[in-house]
Amino acid sequence: MQSVEQLKELHLRRFGTVPQVFAAPGRVNLIGEHTDYAEGFVMPAAIDFATLAGVTQREDGRVVIRAENFDEERSFEAEALPEMRSGEWSDYPVGVLRTLAEEGYRIPPLSLSLWGDVPLGSGLSSSASVEVATAAAVTRLMGTAIDGPAMARLCQRAENEFVGASCGIMDQFVSVNGAANHALLLDCRDLSYRLAPIPKSVALVIANTMVKHSIAGGEYGTRRAEVELACRILARHRPEIRFLRDATVVDLERWGEEIPEAARKRARHIITENARTTAAAEALETQDMDRLGMLMHEAHLSYSHDFEASCAEADLMVELAGRLPGLIGARLTGGGFGGCTVNLVEQEFAAEFKSKLGAQYRERTGIEPEIYICHASDGVRRVG
Ligand code: GLA
Repeated sequence: MQSVEQLKELHLRRFGTVPQVFAAPGRVNLIGEHTDYAEGFVMPAAIDFATLAGVTQREDGRVVIRAENFDEERSFEAEALPEMRSGEWSDYPVGVLRTLAEEGYRIPPLSLSLWGDVPLGSGLSSSASVEVATAAAVTRLMGTAIDGPAMARLCQRAENEFVGASCGIMDQFVSVNGAANHALLLDCRDLSYRLAPIPKSVALVIANTMVKHSIAGGEYGTRRAEVELACRILARHRPEIRFLRDATVVDLERWGEEIPEAARKRARHIITENARTTAAAEALETQDMDRLGMLMHEAHLSYSHDFEASCAEADLMVELAGRLPGLIGARLTGGGFGGCTVNLVEQEFAAEFKSKLGAQYRERTGIEPEIYICHASDGVRRVG
């Protein structure tokens, strides 16, 4: 995580006031991919990369948002929030302010400094961490308390409606509600969740293929549309299927022929992934790591073959990991089409795993990967 003291210093130098600082983590998803918007199950963990948000009040009626990462600022009247997205980084914090305003809150004049170390466009939810850090900082400044699920929903709305990316609830939810050393099994239908401890003997190794991923890009939306099409077709036969969460493999066997092939494969991924995800939570709870590893392996194959959301580099990263000592399970994590793989590795092998995986991936692709040994961390909190 970036230094809280340093952010305070930067904020003080630029705005003349010492801020309250909040940290909101990125996340890695252990299993349950593209199931969130189908009202299914996901099991992510918050990680120790985060966005820091420092906030103070202003006297001049303006909102000034500063991104330390880019050395850039955006500013406007607090009474006249921007109505349209700009296509820039500032859409994420501005979207949160607008969504708060739409929910009836009055946005006070404020200075907001953002500074993060979540790798951008790598499938580790840098955008959700910016949204959640902003929401936590600004609501605290307003003296308003919003509960965890409501804050996650608010940030998701900002991303759906203002930024224009049709993401589900997973990233924002775990950035708010994650817990140190735990994975979080979330039921995306009613937002109930339980935490499962990640054993101390297990390292969370995240391997960045360096292939950029963007959920604002077309593929995420195409997949989501295919999932929704399959759902509508099945619902003609069983109207109680409101989302693919409600469908079974038997439904697919009976009526799958009516669904165009691509959408049928996407549906098969979602339906089987939901079953794998709840089974994976049980495996983690009973510390059955072999079973968890197997489920992650199956999940990767399903994501790659049925959902067709992997890429050659991610498939290779998973394949190479499978040959290294200490691996429990590996798969592509996040929205897909690049980004990072998540690897559960026996702690004593973690350092060797990291160096061998890096060297072999570099040799095969000519790309220098970034590999991070992470820890599951707490959700958004005040720091410093
Ligand atoms: C992105 C979205 C999430 C989720 C994942 C895929 O991270 O923001 O809502 O759909 O992709 O599991």
